[in-house]
Formats: sequence, structure tokens, C-alpha cells
Amino acid sequence: MPDFHKLSIQHITRETSQAVSITFDVPSALKETYTFIPGQYITIKTEIKGTEVRRAYSICSSSKSGELKVAVKEIKDGTFSVIANNELKVGDILEVHPPEGQFLLNTGTSAGNTYTAFAAGSGITPIMSMIKSVLEEETNGRFVLVYGNKTPEDTIFHKELLELQTAYPNRLFIEFIYSRSQQEQAHFGRIEKSTVNYVLKNKFKDTTFNAFYLCGPEEMINTVTHILQENGVDKNQIHFELFTSSSEETEIDADLEGKTSVTLIVDDEEFNFIMDQKKTLLDAALIEDIDAPYSCQGGVCSSCICRISEGEAIMEKNSILTDGEIAEGLVLACQAHPTSGSIKVDFDDV
Ligand SMILES: Cc1cc2nc3c(=O)[nH]c(=O)nc-3n(C[C@H](O)[C@H](O)[C@H](O)COP(=O)(O)OP(=O)(O)OC[C@H]3O[C@@H](n4cnc5c(N)ncnc54)[C@H](O)[C@@H]3O)c2cc1C
Ligand code: FES
Repeated sequence: MPDFHKLSIQHITRETSQAVSITFDVPSALKETYTFIPGQYITIKTEIKGTEVRRAYSICSSSKSGELKVAVKEIKDGTFSVIANNELKVGDILEVHPPEGQFLLNTGTSAGNTYTAFAAGSGITPIMSMIKSVLEEETNGRFVLVYGNKTPEDTIFHKELLELQTAYPNRLFIEFIYSRSQQEQAHFGRIEKSTVNYVLKNKFKDTTFNAFYLCGPEEMINTVTHILQENGVDKNQIHFELFTSSSEETEIDADLEGKTSVTLIVDDEEFNFIMDQKKTLLDAALIEDIDAPYSCQGGVCSSCICRISEGEAIMEKNSILTDGEIAEGLVLACQAHPTSGSIKVDFDDV
């Protein structure tokens, strides 16, 4: 796994009263390392009050722009987002991990594809990269964006999106939805069943969509996925990214009272240790001071995927791995508890 790099902040732009965008200066020697597919994220690592903090941020610039830009929305009482919005300045240096993730714009080889995204709040960030990339790179590629916010003032990239819509009137179509502001030419409310039906059965009823990209709260993602499928959209055409893990407690159907002898491989190095089954594989590795890959620690980013090549483990939450991948032995280390007396965990073979 490539290391973190120290990158300096080139620009900070206030996007809304609660969000800033941050552009990093990527030196020429690292340009290739920081090329990305629209939809991917970087991880920023900082030390706050003596504790290492890692947070994932989706890249919002286009893949061709050569820019590495993210936007951070301030979360009340948040650890890093508050600092990003109030303390960071141009020239500051942050440790950044190269782009990764599985929420990927899958551009077709043929011209004239149509993509749709449902985004809410800061969920616009990976979608912004996709929109710009389709408009810049795909001949006649079209993008329909359904974007929910409280008010226009809260809407990250509002002005930029309107400018893009003016520049590409036949290729970018935006449906703004506001839950706390009545606006002409915008919908009132939230993204829900009627919104999806309006797009599919009314406004764009004669359009064939190539793919759907969803990013926002889990409830919105679940609703939109359900209604899309109800309308006959194949589940392989629906892609989503969650920024936070569900707050629902998950019960593990296993007795985790014992200890497990672990062999762990990362970056061609092998480590051996004994762990409590109550801990996750990632927590146990971090206690052993092993530099295992991770970002969100909440089962939503995919950074910690590893393979169980011997023994068994059970996961708390998983919204990333498919049943086929799990059957192949893949797990999210931040969610997996060993259930066998010994286990072999390989971060290199994924
Ligand atoms: C793949 C991925 C991509 C992401 N991309 C972006 C992005 O482009 N822009 C962006 O602003 N954030 C993004 N995030 C979220 C980001 O990583 C942080 O979780 C977020 O900035 C909060 O971090 P914090 O340290 O300020 O808050 P924390 O100290 O981690 O959390 C404080 C409290 O806020 C809650 N919380 C955390 N995140 C949210 C949230 N998004 N909404 C509501 N409550 C929350 C927590 O449960 C906790 O109770 C992404 C996350 C993932 C996994
Ligand atoms: S660290 Fe994000 S899924 Fe495990």
C-alpha cells in the first residue's frame, strides 16, 4: 500500500458558511500517484490532541484537470471538519493518502451515455468530479443531477453547477430540491419516492440511463435504490457511497469470548500476535503498532479490505463487499472479528 505523502495546501475556498474546498499542491514526482477515477477519495491523516485522526474526503475536481481538490463540510462538534473549516490555511502541510475507493464513474466506450446522480449535502463531492469528467471527456455524454439541500445558500458548488448548466444546456440537467426554502424552478422537500418517480417516469421518461450514482445519508440511498429497482433498474447499474456508517447497532451471531492466534501480512511483512476475539482485526493490528490500511473505521470506505486465507471471521457491518467477495474470503478489517482459534489475514492479496 503506498504511503501517506506530505502535501501542502495550495488554495482554500469558502464554498458555503459550513464548507470549504481545499486544493493540494501535488509535486510533479507524485502526479501519477495522485491520478484518480472520478468518485475516488483521499484520506487525510492528522494528529489532533495527541491522537492520530484519519478522515476520507472524496475528490471533487475532474480527472483531467490535474487538480487534487476536496470539499469538507463542517460537522457540529466534529474533530477534523471543524479544524478544516476554521483553522487550515494556504501553505499548511497535511499527510495525504493517494486516491482509492470503489465508487467509480464507469464511463462507457460509446458516445452519448446518460448518467444520473442523486446527491444530498456534502454527497455532491464525488458527483461533482463525475459531472465535470463526463462533460469534459465523454463525447455527448449527458448527466442528470438530483441534488438535495436545506437552502440554496447551503448548497455546495451551487454557483459552479449553475455555470456548468449554462455552458452545457443540452448535456447537464439539474433538479435542485430544498427542504427549507421555496424557490422557483426548484422542488420543495427531500429526495424521496416521488422524486425518483418524477425523474424516471416524467421528466426523463424517454431517456435510457447507463448508470445511477447515489451519495448522501443512508436513508436517502436506501429509498432511491429501492424505487429505482421497483422501476426495473438493474442493481448492477446502481452505485452508492456512504460517508458515515449507520448508527444502528449490529448484533454478531457468534460467541466472541476466546482468543485467536493471528498471522497478518501487510506490505510483504508478516506479523504474529494473539488477540481477543472481541476486538476487530483492525483494532488488534493497531494495538500491535502494525501499519494496516484504514480510513473511516466505520465499514463504509473499503480502505481496510483484507483476505482471510486461513481460519474464519465474522463482520459487524458491511455495505461494501458483495456476497461473492465474502465467499472468496474478503472482509473489512475494521468490522471483522476472528471466530477460529487461529487466522491468517492478508492485506496484500486483495
Ligand atoms: C469514502 C468517504 C468519503 C467522504 N467524503 C467526504 C467529503 O467529500 N466531504 C465531507 O465533508 N465529508 C466526507 N466524508 C466524511 C468525512 O470523512 C468525515 O467523517 C467528516 O468530515 C466528519 O469528520 P469529523 O472528524 O469532523 O467528525 P467526527 O469527529 O468523526 O464525528 C463527530 C460526530 O459527527 C457524526 N458525523 C460524522 N460524519 C458525519 C456526517 N457526514 N454527517 C453527519 N454526522 C456526521 C459522527 O457520527 C460523530 O457523532 C467522507 C467519508 C467517507 C467514508
Ligand atoms: S476503514 Fe473504512 S471500511 Fe474499514
